[in-house]
Amino acid sequence: MRTPSARPRRLRTTSAMRRLVAETSLSPRQLVLPLFVAEGLSEPRHIRSMPGVVQHSRDSLRAAAAEAVEAGVGGVMLFGVPQHRDARGSGGLDPEAILNVAIGDVVAEVGDDTVVMSDLCLDEFTDHGHCGVLSDDGTVDNDATLEQYAVMALAQAAAGVHVVAPSGMMDGQVGVIREALDTGGYRDVAILAYSAKYASAFYGPFREAVSSTLQGDRRTYQQDPANRREARREVSLDLAEGADLVMVKPALGYLDVLSEVAALSDVPVAAYNVSGEYSMIEAAAAAGYLDRETAVLEVLTSIRRAGADIVLTYWASEAAGWLSALAP
Ligand code: PBG
Repeated sequence: MRTPSARPRRLRTTSAMRRLVAETSLSPRQLVLPLFVAEGLSEPRHIRSMPGVVQHSRDSLRAAAAEAVEAGVGGVMLFGVPQHRDARGSGGLDPEAILNVAIGDVVAEVGDDTVVMSDLCLDEFTDHGHCGVLSDDGTVDNDATLEQYAVMALAQAAAGVHVVAPSGMMDGQVGVIREALDTGGYRDVAILAYSAKYASAFYGPFREAVSSTLQGDRRTYQQDPANRREARREVSLDLAEGADLVMVKPALGYLDVLSEVAALSDVPVAAYNVSGEYSMIEAAAAAGYLDRETAVLEVLTSIRRAGADIVLTYWASEAAGWLSALAP
């Protein structure tokens, strides 16, 4: 019998050997925890489709942010859930409204120790649930939405946020927000652009998380899952408009896109391991179909391997704890 001339298995013989030759690392500092805060809550409220994730009250949000920082995560991403919504999403622009006051709370609590980021989008604040304001014919009006985003960026910056994260996929949003921040005296507030964001069924549980009222879909502004070249164009435009970081979203079905974006980008690349990706594993683990911790770490490592410098994940605090225990 012919014996193999090469034996790659030699590098897999012990866990020490595997640790030595691992090509990809995963550290708590690379993880960002998305957090939801809802107006008017006195206790956190469970999100049925995302077991283990809650809508926070202002108090529990501060505690969760402190816990995340304690676990060593790289940052937190805040989403606000208002009690009242209107056609123009005014609640996102109002300095006294839930997201902006929550930014202030979190910055006061942990702002010196972590990177505080906020979602810059109107969908949580509009009564129709779209990411922008509507024209008379019911389509999302790109340029009218940009005016709202500029004001929203200033409100978030005034609340003390370090990074704004425009997620609405309006053309020109990064440039308009950059100009607004610079003119407003917030030159050091960074922009994490959701550059390649696809119209995905995997945002399903997030709709419950933000009590979304959306009817229909977002296919006239978010990308078609069929397209990869288009992602390069979106990223190039955002880089030209001044994005400090770019993001691909969702992560798992789009690892090829992520890999291309990582090759193209000269700024750090983030990937969003979205709600549906979280809930799939939680459901399978709860049913006993797979080992939860192993599956989560495998997924997060895969997203890093594909090229993400930063991973947004609802497991951030918990995974950070596991990673610290694995590699003290
Ligand atoms: C829009 C936004 C969405 C998510 C993050 N920002 C929803 C959407 O675009 O429909 C989804 C995140 C997730 O599913 O975990 N503000």
